Amino acid sequence: MSLPTVLELAKQYIEAVLPMGGVALDGTMGNGYDTLFLAQRVGAAGRVYAFDVQPEALDATHRRLESEGVAERVTLIHASHAEMTQHLPANITLHAAMYNLGYLPHGDKSVITHAASTLAALSETLTRLVAGGILTVVLYPGHAGGDDEAAAVIAWAQGLLPDVAQIQWTQSFNTRRPAPSLLIIGKR
Ligand SMILES: C[S@@+](CC[C@H](N)C(=O)[O-])C[C@H]1O[C@@H](n2cnc3c(N)ncnc32)[C@H](O)[C@@H]1O
Repeated sequence: MSLPTVLELAKQYIEAVLPMGGVALDGTMGNGYDTLFLAQRVGAAGRVYAFDVQPEALDATHRRLESEGVAERVTLIHASHAEMTQHLPANITLHAAMYNLGYLPHGDKSVITHAASTLAALSETLTRLVAGGILTVVLYPGHAGGDDEAAAVIAWAQGLLPDVAQIQWTQSFNTRRPAPSLLIIGKR
């Protein structure tokens, strides 16, 4: 038996709480794999909001969603996740949210997530989560800026009060290359 990757683990947590007809956020749509996963989970009556700063990400994600017949239940937003308040309806609450930090695989590796905007986005996301909702963050060390961003996100999570959120952090440690870790935040 092989253990699940952190991304598979994130999806297992999301699956456990995201209802059909629910509302989810993909804070970093990239090539759209996670957006598609969320769209399939919420079903035709649900809604997914997905952010990315790169037009290439929106194009790739749109194509993926179209080919799977789920595009109409997803709102693709070409903006930083830090500008969420300007782009999401004020009254929208979320059942689940995924962030997969770093750079677009096979894309421009100079466009990466940064601690300041990531923290602004995570904070707003946590505010919008329903009680019992889940926020997952996959953190990548080993690229320029990745270690600092991961440290900032973990420090932010450690500062959350126990009556606001339940927190887990998981990582493989006997790997050949720096391994991504998974932060799971459950809203009280
Ligand atoms: C690791 S990739 C995401 C992978 C994606 N979830 C998937 O399923 O393919 C990280 C993405 O974050 C995006 N990104 C970087 N800064 C961002 C920001 N401030 N707001 C939203 N997305 C951002 C990058 O453009 C990149 O596409």
